Amino acid sequence: MSPPPFSTIAGAFAADASGRELRVRGWVQRSRSSGGILFVLLRDRTGTVQVTAKRDTLGDAAFDAAEHVQVEGVVEVDGTVAADPRAPGGRELRARSVRVVDAGLPFPIFQEQTEEFRLDKRHLVIRSEEHVATFRIKADLLRALRDFLDREEVLEVTPPVLTGNPAEGGAEAFAIDYFGRPGYLSQTAQLYLEAMLSPHERVYALTPSFRAEKSRTPRHLTEYQHLEVELAWTDLGELMSFIERMLVDAAHAVARKRPAELKLLGRSPDELERLSAPFPRLSYAAAVDRLAAAGFPVSFGSDLGTAEERALTLESAEFLFVTRYPKERKAFYMLETPGDPRTVEATDLLGPEGYGEIVGASCRETDLDRLTRRLAETGADPAEYDWYLDLRRHGNVPHAGFGLGVERLLRWMLRREHIRETTPFPRTPSRHTP
Ligand code: 4AD
Ligand code: MG
Repeated sequence: MSPPPFSTIAGAFAADASGRELRVRGWVQRSRSSGGILFVLLRDRTGTVQVTAKRDTLGDAAFDAAEHVQVEGVVEVDGTVAADPRAPGGRELRARSVRVVDAGLPFPIFQEQTEEFRLDKRHLVIRSEEHVATFRIKADLLRALRDFLDREEVLEVTPPVLTGNPAEGGAEAFAIDYFGRPGYLSQTAQLYLEAMLSPHERVYALTPSFRAEKSRTPRHLTEYQHLEVELAWTDLGELMSFIERMLVDAAHAVARKRPAELKLLGRSPDELERLSAPFPRLSYAAAVDRLAAAGFPVSFGSDLGTAEERALTLESAEFLFVTRYPKERKAFYMLETPGDPRTVEATDLLGPEGYGEIVGASCRETDLDRLTRRLAETGADPAEYDWYLDLRRHGNVPHAGFGLGVERLLRWMLRREHIRETTPFPRTPSRHTP
């Protein structure tokens, strides 16, 4: 007779599981033995269960082998589910047999180690409860965003990540040798999304973007997941309304899908459920006035850096759209504000509680001459962007779009101190391994 199939560990907690024979396998989270009884907390993707194994039942050889399994070693267990109020969750699995799949070496991760050591051992650290919760939430966040875009009839497309056009400022692009010609890792898919706009009208892409910024801040990665959306026939007001609906929808979806994981990370799902649209809007000019009144040395034209962005929402539980930035502070492709040549039709969405920029958005310049002039002013060679300029020569329509840093959004959602906690293998100026 072949052995029964494996059950998940969650199966041990099913309403009718008590008294049943069960076969499970998983990783040892911790174990101890006393007086001929071994207690193992066993983990699989569905949860943990306490396994108890007796020397008398297993026999000396099997018991000794099971006793020597290290933290993160792997075993298969056959046993009977029993109610036990002392066990976590009120159930345990009383083992009839324990088979060692991998006894493992002593697990090198402990709570008190330095952050640098933990980053060196990131491939092992990501088994922690916090990381498991984080990356399950991230998966559902991505799913919620995609579901929203699907309902809005925005088509997912697949732009390249290798490019000859850096698009967001050459200085912060990772340059590569592309068979002897200059190439770059993409900073944005925007130009390609604009090209795909004419046939599809509404497109998005979720790709890695790369920024060779040396900034060591809690909100910069050199590689991040970039969700970018491009919409035809859309003005700044419509774009902001699209963005806020998307974020409210995603926050609600995550709150409903992952309440336990959110609580484990210290975020109440109710807080996310309370997020609602519309988000307040503040013009850049008014933001500068507010900051100047608070003592910041800023005037019209100043950059709003980390400290300024932080101050604008530090005391608030709401997102904030800052609109109509000075032209010289923003990218070449942004539309000049009709009637105000000093500013562009752009907005940065700042996260609540001082989290800073999470979305960068703008209407795109449709005037070929102005676009070419602005491009040349950035120091780029318009000839290299001629394919992009073609888009203004053939079927040019008003359009707008945005880029959202997925890890920035998640950092706010999970109130993480550092953005690196929202990605399994963070890429920063000092680290690209493991
Ligand atoms: O504001 P950015 O530079 O805008 C663009 O790249 C546009 N072309 C996007 C578009 O309209 N299609 O970047 C967009 C977002 C930022 O708001 C931020 O959330 C995120 O990308 N981002 C980063 N996230 C993590 N680490 C970094 N170094 C980031 N740089 C930008
Ligand atoms: Mg930006």
